Amino acid sequence: MFRQMKNSALSALGRRTALPPISWLMQTALARPRLISLAAGFTDNATLPVEISRKLLNEILRSPKIGRPALQYGITAGEMNLRKLTAAHLRKLDSSSFSSSSLVLEQKSRTRTRRKGEDEKRHSPERVMITGGSQQLLYMTLEALCDEGDIVLVEDPTYFVFLSILQSQGIRARGVRLERDGIDLAHLEKILERLKKSGELRRVKALYLVSYFQNPTGVTTSFAKKAGALKVLKKFERAAGHPIYLLEDSAYRELRFSGDDTPSALMVPGASRNVIYTGTYSKPYAPGARIGFGILPEPLFTAVQRIKGNHDFGTANLLQQLLARALETGLYDKHVVKIEKRYGQKARVMKQALAEHFPKSVEIWESGGGLYFWARLPKNVATGIQSEVFQTALKNDVLYVPGGICYADDPSRRKPDHEMRISFGSASEENIRKGIARLGSVLKKFIK
Ligand SMILES: Cc1ncc(COP(=O)(O)O)c(C=O)c1O
Repeated sequence: MFRQMKNSALSALGRRTALPPISWLMQTALARPRLISLAAGFTDNATLPVEISRKLLNEILRSPKIGRPALQYGITAGEMNLRKLTAAHLRKLDSSSFSSSSLVLEQKSRTRTRRKGEDEKRHSPERVMITGGSQQLLYMTLEALCDEGDIVLVEDPTYFVFLSILQSQGIRARGVRLERDGIDLAHLEKILERLKKSGELRRVKALYLVSYFQNPTGVTTSFAKKAGALKVLKKFERAAGHPIYLLEDSAYRELRFSGDDTPSALMVPGASRNVIYTGTYSKPYAPGARIGFGILPEPLFTAVQRIKGNHDFGTANLLQQLLARALETGLYDKHVVKIEKRYGQKARVMKQALAEHFPKSVEIWESGGGLYFWARLPKNVATGIQSEVFQTALKNDVLYVPGGICYADDPSRRKPDHEMRISFGSASEENIRKGIARLGSVLKKFIK
């Protein structure tokens, strides 16, 4: 009966949504137990905070009076206690990175922002929203901002699951060239100029930056570049007829094992109206507790809150209380210090293995935090899923993320296909060594 039907009942979105590459990669990893996956963006298994969480959950559930609210529905935007703690946490990160920085620009902007009395408003708990992971917030933000055919500018390359959301929602992406300290601002301006000429500027809604230890390249955007990007976006605002937001995704900010923290774009003077800041407790605490958060300007905050009302009318209360207690007791901060050390150690192991096993002609981008190394092979050596390199790696039981899937479908350039993202997040030190040795011997077959 169903087979005779000519058309499915799926919506345009249901029909359009492609299988996200992440699902395929995860399935492949699970189906082959011998396989060492350097592909997954999973966090370190051995340091997941089991004892801390048990202690805190016991406290939350120690009596019916205290436990019941945690097991009840809550408020759409999140529990005010966690919103306050999150606001205070971000204020602390921003103010200490701001004062430890020696950039003249930062010092200047500090005086100016003080004058405008922005300091308090910038990290106001009223503007903080708690979500089911920052992924949910990214999805809802795009829903609130974009109609089908609208344009979002992204780093070239960028977080590939974000690209999947764009694909699913029918939003067009344009890639802005990425340099070692963030996007190429001249290129950003050129793209916007071109879109203005073609009459499409009004379709541009946001620039998305994964600004700390970027997924996939490990690049951190300097504060000067955040300020520069906001200046360029502001320049085109009038012609666009609406704000063009800087969507700053800080998912890896607290996985920093060397160097200083960088202030967020919220610290750029006069900018907080144009910045959407998203973050997560998944990476520094536990993805299984899946709590994300964001700071949103109006009218976006209200729009996203209403959309979240339809999605789930509030993130799981028990998990919010867990994170709130972890922050309140200082156990969260202690845990972050522990995992930073751990990732630093794993990154060193991977760096050493890469130096030992990878052909010298492979350019390696290393980072002071996050979960990834980015490897750039000679241009004629393809790394995509159909490529010989990928298929041989799979036969040899090692998996990486092909760089090509991190590039937007942007008709103005050819997609690079000679790079790979390699993660030290979830593999043990032993498997990092083994996995890189396997991958290195595969590469030596194709690169002289
Ligand atoms: C850049 C980036 N943003 C957001 C997320 C989503 O994380 P979560 O939904 O767990 O907060 C991820 C997850 O890997 C990520 O890599």
